[in-house]
Amino acid sequence: MPVATQASLKGLTPEQLAQTGCMLCLNNTYHLGLKPGQAVLDQVGGAHKLQGWDRNILTDSGGFQMVSLLKLAKVTEEGVRFLSPHDGTPMLLTPEHSISLQNSIGSDIIMQLDDVIVTTSPDHARMKEAMERSVRWLDRCIDAHKYPERQNLFCIIQGGLDLEMRKQCCAEMVARDTPGIAIGGLSGGEAKEEYCKVVDTCTGLLPEKKPRYVMGVGYPEDLIVSVALGADMFDCVWPTRTARFGNAVTSYGTLNLRNHSYVADFSPIEEGCECTCCRPAEKGGLGITKAYIHHLAAKETVGAHLLTMHNVHYLLTLMGSARQAIIEDRYPDFVREFFGKLYKNRS
Ligand code: GUN
Ligand code: ZN
Repeated sequence: MPVATQASLKGLTPEQLAQTGCMLCLNNTYHLGLKPGQAVLDQVGGAHKLQGWDRNILTDSGGFQMVSLLKLAKVTEEGVRFLSPHDGTPMLLTPEHSISLQNSIGSDIIMQLDDVIVTTSPDHARMKEAMERSVRWLDRCIDAHKYPERQNLFCIIQGGLDLEMRKQCCAEMVARDTPGIAIGGLSGGEAKEEYCKVVDTCTGLLPEKKPRYVMGVGYPEDLIVSVALGADMFDCVWPTRTARFGNAVTSYGTLNLRNHSYVADFSPIEEGCECTCCRPAEKGGLGITKAYIHHLAAKETVGAHLLTMHNVHYLLTLMGSARQAIIEDRYPDFVREFFGKLYKNRS
């Protein structure tokens, strides 16, 4: 899922986002709850109408954004207390309020409010409290949810890097029988080995037929490894954010097109890429070259728009190919081919 925090994928119109092949994007409850706010969301009839997007939307519940964005956020059993970034008034986001906002947003997948601690925290007692509180908050979210028949509520497994805690959390969450399950608290700079152990432990305990969503991941190689470990869904700002720094994500690694070596490189970002930016004009695309994006550099925003189109298309196509490889029972070959290309030019 590409991330459209403020009900907009930075740099793309909804039509351009649809052209990337995107069927599901992510919005944030915290941001939309502050602006345009619940009254406007109710008036307009939800986030699909607000942003002219008739495909799917997933909303994150808000707690994680608050804790990661605001130094002064404080978590208690009631909810997350914070000062409004607009005028400094004290506010409280409870599980009930997060669900009420997500009901007004009308997103197709809604997330429980969870108590998120960075995985690298050494405070075992606080981690356990956060895991157990997340289970209690899931119950409050389930009770508060007004439209379970049209909005799918996902639980979020917490428990840091402690595999026993993760196992306990999986058992509690799975018992609540939500339509999908997320693994949270990762993507916080933990070692890859630890990350893999957590994902592997959780997916081993989750029901086969429900979507498993690893939150806040990631780089192409993390996606491919996580799929091998049994995960299905991901979100990350990286492909869109890095586009704004002039970076193109390709099968052969990330290229910074601001580098002088691209000044007269008239090849597409990636040969054979079918995104609107790379596809040749005779096939209905724009036939954009690396040299053109290099020329636009940081000064002309269209360069970032074109790279965003390509990067989102690249990641969605990568995930589509992974899915196809699994269906055709050749995922191990797919993984070898993926890493073979990615590391082709590296020693
Ligand atoms: N985004 C990345 N990680 C998390 C998490 O643990 N919880 C929530 N709600 N959002 C996230
Ligand atoms: Zn492309």
